[in-house]
Amino acid sequence: MWPINNGTERIHQQNKSTMLSMQEIRAIESWISQIGISSFYKTVGQKISTASKTLKFKYKMIGHGLNRVVYDLNNGYILKIALSEVGLISNANEAYIYNNCNEEVKKYLCPVKEHGTGWIIMKKVDTKVPFAIKEYTKLIKLELKLLRYGIIPIDLRLDNVGYNENDEMVVIDYGLFTMDLKSPVLRWLV
Ligand SMILES: Nc1ncnc2c1ncn2[C@@H]1O[C@H](COP(=O)(O)OP(=O)(O)OP(=O)(O)O)[C@@H](O)[C@H]1O
Ligand SMILES: [Mg+2]
Repeated sequence: MWPINNGTERIHQQNKSTMLSMQEIRAIESWISQIGISSFYKTVGQKISTASKTLKFKYKMIGHGLNRVVYDLNNGYILKIALSEVGLISNANEAYIYNNCNEEVKKYLCPVKEHGTGWIIMKKVDTKVPFAIKEYTKLIKLELKLLRYGIIPIDLRLDNVGYNENDEMVVIDYGLFTMDLKSPVLRWLV
């Protein structure tokens, strides 16, 4: 498996939630146990289809990327579920970064409420970000803030940010960010 921040041990979290029912947690566990088998030869669409058949959630799917599918919990929070091993690591990494970063920089990260193996619950934010010069300027300022406080924002782009309730730009996808200069992700990129 591919570790970030020496974090493979962090992937295995206790599956307790105040927002998800036991049945929903069991469904997530069942899907997560299938990831290894399906990851390599299925397309994202096929993985989403198998995941949703296993999960049988009542929630609306509000988005997905290459590695995670995202559901709206209808209470101001969203649930991200891994579709791949990178998704598993991304969820664990976001929880780790949010809970261990410098307090000064926390306000730029979409808040994490709860997480377990393969899933994470975050605040729902407005993701309608226009592709405009003004927003790119904000993105660069955000990137510098993160770097200043020891976070290397790998894969930071307009697709991966949103606006919080104060209309400030926050990162919604920081699964590949690292606080570790020895991260293997950096070895690939540089
Ligand atoms: N906090 C949030 N609030 C509202 N919508 C969100 C939030 N987080 C994610 N989403 C929606 O879900 C989509 C996928 O989420 P995310 O980018 O975290 O997945 P990913 O699989 O890690 O993406 P990538 O392909 O970049 O690796 C986002 O583009 C966005 O539309
Ligand atoms: Mg993304």
